[in-house]
Amino acid sequence: MERPEIDLRSASVARIFDYYLGGAHNFAVDRELADAAAKLMPELPRMMHLHRRFLARAMRYVVEQGVTQFLDLGSGLPTPGGSLEVARRLDPFARVVHVDIDPVVGAHGKSLLGAADSAVVVGDMCEPDAILDHPETRRVLDFDRPIGLLLVGVLDFVGNDVDLPGVLARYRDRVVPGSHIVLTNFSVEGGLEDYQRTEQLYRDNTTIDFHPRSAAEVTELLAGFELAEPGVVDVSLWRPEAVLEDLDEHPKRSAAYVAVGRKP
Ligand SMILES: C[S@@+](CC[C@H](N)C(=O)[O-])C[C@H]1O[C@@H](n2cnc3c(N)ncnc32)[C@H](O)[C@@H]1O
Repeated sequence: MERPEIDLRSASVARIFDYYLGGAHNFAVDRELADAAAKLMPELPRMMHLHRRFLARAMRYVVEQGVTQFLDLGSGLPTPGGSLEVARRLDPFARVVHVDIDPVVGAHGKSLLGAADSAVVVGDMCEPDAILDHPETRRVLDFDRPIGLLLVGVLDFVGNDVDLPGVLARYRDRVVPGSHIVLTNFSVEGGLEDYQRTEQLYRDNTTIDFHPRSAAEVTELLAGFELAEPGVVDVSLWRPEAVLEDLDEHPKRSAAYVAVGRKP
């Protein structure tokens, strides 16, 4: 797999996300873009927090189904509230392989992790065989037992030039029954105006491209998985814990579809 250089002059999705979540692994270029984007779309930082809270709820559900090892595709930096922290809280023996295309995640990840029960793989999640056969993935995960595939906040950056249904089917085929998938994808079904201005900001300043999907498209990606209740729903509506706290005043504006599925 190619290992691109870390480019400190252009903003990175991983570091912008880290900034929105209050992390310390970001640079001025990331913060400037993140602040400008949040001015155009004030709900952005809140969206990131809603994703984080969904990740925790969905991982707890998956652990309750007996799955304690995770392949976190598009993991971002291992910030507080990320998959490793959530997994360890749920089960001290949980295992997590973090996969991210951004070399900055590999660089930070190595210094932050380094434990026997976790690994960082720098790679493209759209190359399932390379990810699944990577020696670090094989070292940490036991493929004879169910695995939790996490795709939280990553498909938003994968375009339709990629055969995404085929990619997900490949992951599904290579894990044992009882494995789970946790997936999110933001959508613009709630309104386009703010989104289009934000997209333009990113286009003018970065190489980052957004790919919103409809509920129907998200459902199609999950073919072959049995969906846990309540199916494909808005991020704040998937088994909310504190209904009043989680519910958006403008539910349509939080605009991300999520689902959890099980390989039968
Ligand atoms: C918004 S962050 C999500 C972080 C994390 N999943 C979470 O929920 O906290 C998206 C991450 O996906 C990564 N990414 C984007 N495209 C990718 C790809 N094709 N393969 C692997 N990682 C990718 C980005 O580098 C970024 O770190």
